[in-house]
Amino acid sequence: MKDLEALVGRTLDAIAASTDRAALEAVRVAALGRKGTITELLKSLGALPATQRKAAGATINDAKRAVTAALETRRVELEAAELESSLRSGALDVTLPGRGQAGGGLHPVTRTRLRIEAIFRQAGFTVAAGPEVEDDFHNFGALNIPPDHPARAMHDTFYFGDGRLLRTHTSPVQIRAMQRQGVPIRVIAPGPVYRRDSDVTHSPMFHQVEGLVIDRDISLAHLKGVLTGFVAQFFERPRALRFRASYFPFTEPSAEVDIQCVLCDGAGCRVCKQSGWIEILGCGMVHPNVLTACGVDPEGWQGYAFGMGIERAAMLRYAVNDLRLFFDNDLRFLAQFNRG
Ligand code: PHE
Repeated sequence: MKDLEALVGRTLDAIAASTDRAALEAVRVAALGRKGTITELLKSLGALPATQRKAAGATINDAKRAVTAALETRRVELEAAELESSLRSGALDVTLPGRGQAGGGLHPVTRTRLRIEAIFRQAGFTVAAGPEVEDDFHNFGALNIPPDHPARAMHDTFYFGDGRLLRTHTSPVQIRAMQRQGVPIRVIAPGPVYRRDSDVTHSPMFHQVEGLVIDRDISLAHLKGVLTGFVAQFFERPRALRFRASYFPFTEPSAEVDIQCVLCDGAGCRVCKQSGWIEILGCGMVHPNVLTACGVDPEGWQGYAFGMGIERAAMLRYAVNDLRLFFDNDLRFLAQFNRG
């Protein structure tokens, strides 16, 4: 009976020490299973003299009940703990911040267009627009490019069957703006233009912004002043400009304008091909024939026009080295313009 007490004590300790239901089951089997310690004791009762059997039986059964009750209590405890921990591990933390929604943003070409518009608005320009499907007169004829003019060959035009075409530059908006609102006039006209041209530095569709100022005595000095101011604002620092004599049928005199390279400040680098200068636009004094074609008297009015590539301006401002990035629509590229 002393052994029984010690056995019960050890069993209760083992029950208390069980930390999961498998361990608890092992303790039960060891004590109460078919070959368990307490089961064996009950089996051995038969060997006792009849006089002792009853009392011993009662004592062993008490021990068995005590062990059974302890097993049951521990089982309930362990089950509750298991439930608790599974609830905790599967729990939703409703206070965690959400994944959120990535904000959209304007395409860098659109951003650049809006920026150019804002700068010219400050200088008193209004924004004009014209159709992308043009006729020969507005895209060429009125711009002093008659049908047999060699400049037509340079334009790689997309034609429709009926003779209309996709405008090859924004210059036809000069014509439409003058026809619509007359002179004096001070407009810019941004928008898409199309040329049959596609390689690393050319896209069949790209954007230009046209500028047109006609008044009583507008000179090249005004053009130079406006462009110098524009470049300083667009690149956020003053830059030297270089006017190189050039040729456009619709301006006389004509020039191509270079700016001091924005990447090397004129020292010479790969982008400016070591020259220190980068071409940014074409311009000139509006040809008298253009004014005449719009019903404006070239004896009383004069002015300037310019045309600039928006992608090119965006590439210089944001140091983008491949024109095609603007048209791939890869979000990893586009998202970089969404800050601020
Ligand atoms: N239209 C010319 C071009 O596409 C640019 C230009 C515009 C030049 C206005 C002079 C004046 O190249």
